[in-house]
Amino acid sequence: MSYLQIKNISKSFYGVKALNNISLDLELGEIHVVIGENGAGKSTLMKIIAGLYQADEGEIILKGNPVKIGNPVEAIANRISMIHQELMPVPYLTVAENVFLGREPKNKAGMLDKKAIIRGTRELFEEMKIEIDPRAQMGTLSVAQVQLVEIAKAVSFNSELLIMDEPTSAISDREIENLYDLVFRLKAQNKAIVFISHKLDEIFKVADRITVLRDGEYIGTRMKTELDKDTLIAMMIGRELKDVYERRDKNIGETILEVKNLGRRGRFEDVSFTLRKGEILGIAGLMGAGRTELAEAIFGLNPSDSGEIYIKGKQVQIRSTSDAIKNRIALVPEDRKLLGLNLKDTTGFNISLSVLKLFEKMGILDKKAENDQVDRSIEQFGIKVMGRKTPVVSLSGGNQQKVVIAKWMLSKPEILILDEPTRGIDIGAKTEIYKLINTLANEGKAVIMISSELPEIIGMSDRVLVLSEGRLTGELHEGGISQMEIMKRATIQNKPLSEVG
Ligand SMILES: Nc1ncnc2c1ncn2[C@@H]1O[C@H](COP(=O)(O)OP(=O)(O)OP(=O)(O)O)[C@@H](O)[C@H]1O
Ligand SMILES: [Mg+2]
Repeated sequence: MSYLQIKNISKSFYGVKALNNISLDLELGEIHVVIGENGAGKSTLMKIIAGLYQADEGEIILKGNPVKIGNPVEAIANRISMIHQELMPVPYLTVAENVFLGREPKNKAGMLDKKAIIRGTRELFEEMKIEIDPRAQMGTLSVAQVQLVEIAKAVSFNSELLIMDEPTSAISDREIENLYDLVFRLKAQNKAIVFISHKLDEIFKVADRITVLRDGEYIGTRMKTELDKDTLIAMMIGRELKDVYERRDKNIGETILEVKNLGRRGRFEDVSFTLRKGEILGIAGLMGAGRTELAEAIFGLNPSDSGEIYIKGKQVQIRSTSDAIKNRIALVPEDRKLLGLNLKDTTGFNISLSVLKLFEKMGILDKKAENDQVDRSIEQFGIKVMGRKTPVVSLSGGNQQKVVIAKWMLSKPEILILDEPTRGIDIGAKTEIYKLINTLANEGKAVIMISSELPEIIGMSDRVLVLSEGRLTGELHEGGISQMEIMKRATIQNKPLSEVG
């Protein structure tokens, strides 16, 4: 008898089937990877087990007994907890208060026992090798840190089943290694773990068994040892995938952007480089190296406070994002939830919002032109959505990312900065995005691509800059770009930045 059996589960949203008759077994002491393209139904299935959604049909059998999991509290009572793909921290509470949310220990006076939760959080973090101050405000944490806190929180419930929905999508290599250690320890403690991921290397590292979903259908479950990457990809997308990075004919032109001794106090310092038309410049580095900060400075989001920026040889001042947009610079941000999207609005509105002027005729918005463009974008980027009126919040993670890219592409940038453009995106959609980036470069656009996925940096870039601790530590050219050369430079210890800002 399996620990947990999912039997014939179906679920629709507004008449659209997200899951169709899914059956699946989970065992204790097993790491079970669930994989599938964006929108395949992975998160939906897991949210049903974790009590966030109710299935329309089917049942869940826990240790031989049918259970009804009506809400997350009932899930925890059944010793099931889930780390969500869409992180939901409470920004104005401290880290410790977030960890103990809903089960706060009280002191003798019946008040929140702040000392106890700080102590509890500190112990938990120590065990998990997490270096975050339990007293920090949640809102001041980076995405990666928030993800770590959420992982720690889920672990602290001491559940039998731990569902991790893309737990490594935003954390750095070192933290990822710690997470793997933790996952293997939990397995050794005979827990059941569901691990959702789009990263094939990772999947082959952690999995015992792998289940594939496609378009809400169950495709199959295999032992990892029975599978190779090509077979797995074929199961996922229903066809073979060749040449993910597809080299383009190169057409590298004159320098369009030059950055000289750029810095932002406490973040990065003395960064100089050039970018040419038609070039894809990769930026690699560990988390905290200053890559996002550099991108945000060039885009005027968090302007630089030293150094110079030149566009086509002319010095420009970029003090705000509108300065950047005027100079035809666009940024697809790392954190799409915070900066990229208005979640409650429709897909169409999100795509056209920043370029409504394009559809104006004598000062009046031409709704039809706008809608036509939105529909073309949805089609072009393969955004899986009912229609342009569908709220973005109901799209799967990867499809939300495509909406952000589609939105920025409409502003016709000459310099496109992509910060982790394929984070959380499935391999099929990734290939589409790579194709798109290559096409843009071919058309003479200059692209800066920040990515933590080295295969992607190596596969896509014409040139790679490496940052470490806020400084440029290397520049690699074609022929010399490899995982080892990047890592060597990414881990160089620098003298500290001059002042913390
Ligand atoms: N709350 C919701 N309202 C409406 N539709 C939803 C909702 N949640 C999910 N869906 C739809 O159900 C389908 C499955 O989505 P789900 O989030 O489970 O995919 P996923 O496999 O986790 O994808 P990803 O890899 O992008 O995270 C998608 O078509 C999605 O748009
Ligand atoms: Mg998901």
